[in-house]
Amino acid sequence: MGRFQDKVAFITGAGRGQGRSHAVRFAEEGADVIAVDICEQIDSIPYPLATVDDLAETVRLVEARGRRIVARKADVRDLAALTRVVEEGVAELGRLDVVVANAGVAGGAPALDLTSDEWRDMIDVNQTGVWHTCKAAVPAILEGGRGGAVIMTSSELGLRASPNIAHYTASKHGVIGLMRVLAIELGPSSVRVNCVLPTEVDTPMIMNEQTWEVFCPDIESPGRDDLAAVTLPLHVLPVPWVEPVDISNAVLFLASDEARYITGLPLLVDAGGYLIR
Ligand SMILES: NC(=O)c1ccc[n+]([C@@H]2O[C@H](COP(=O)([O-])OP(=O)(O)OC[C@H]3O[C@@H](n4cnc5c(N)ncnc54)[C@H](O)[C@@H]3O)[C@@H](O)[C@H]2O)c1
Repeated sequence: MGRFQDKVAFITGAGRGQGRSHAVRFAEEGADVIAVDICEQIDSIPYPLATVDDLAETVRLVEARGRRIVARKADVRDLAALTRVVEEGVAELGRLDVVVANAGVAGGAPALDLTSDEWRDMIDVNQTGVWHTCKAAVPAILEGGRGGAVIMTSSELGLRASPNIAHYTASKHGVIGLMRVLAIELGPSSVRVNCVLPTEVDTPMIMNEQTWEVFCPDIESPGRDDLAAVTLPLHVLPVPWVEPVDISNAVLFLASDEARYITGLPLLVDAGGYLIR
């Protein structure tokens, strides 16, 4: 028996990266999954987002673990689309227990140089998208009457500031504010609401040429190793970044009965970086 045997988790941004890892780990622990990803580009985002093939690979990986998955192409900026996917998923899988609001985008520029499109798209996806995810999915947890858990993906930049990433930083601070209010509002219904706050994670969000150039402005054609040289000293533990599964394990803990009296927590998974940054 897994820790989530025959429960159902709804995960946004599940096409790749951390979202895919969360889907696989929930499946390994016995859960079925409802998954969405935008599977197309947002013009103001400077690196490629996931594709339909990426989401198909997540489906394959979950099914290979013997669990069911309802996966749809949907944008967290579209509340009606999310609501439809949750309805379809719950109709097929029978219940909803866990919501993981993971979808997000990143970018970088000095605050006063950001365009209105860059600002709005970031807030729309990273902040409003998390609220949409909750608005679309939490009612299905409440209808089950068994309680449940919401885990939102913020960032270590939800607690801290760094130059050239104001829109992302604002959005991730905003997620923590939403988490705190929802934790109070949903607590009486035994729905716990927590955040994970990752440091750098080895996913396509930071493993791309555009991000390497932002982190390593003085190096011509920087790569992974150059990023590692910059980010290693940002952590207390001797790693340049963490792996998606490290975030998944924190998400699963927060979603599990082991965390039954933990709600309203911003949980750093940051190799100690917050201590010294
Ligand atoms: N990678 C890092 O270093 C890092 C650090 C801290 C926090 N985070 C956060 O972790 C979360 C997961 O990111 P990741 O590292 O897996 O990056 P990623 O880019 O690999 O995955 C993000 C996924 O979200 C999807 N997505 C983007 N916009 C969407 C939208 N509007 N609707 C639906 N899906 C959308 C993308 O297509 C992609 O599959 C994000 O919220 C991110 O901000 C990442």
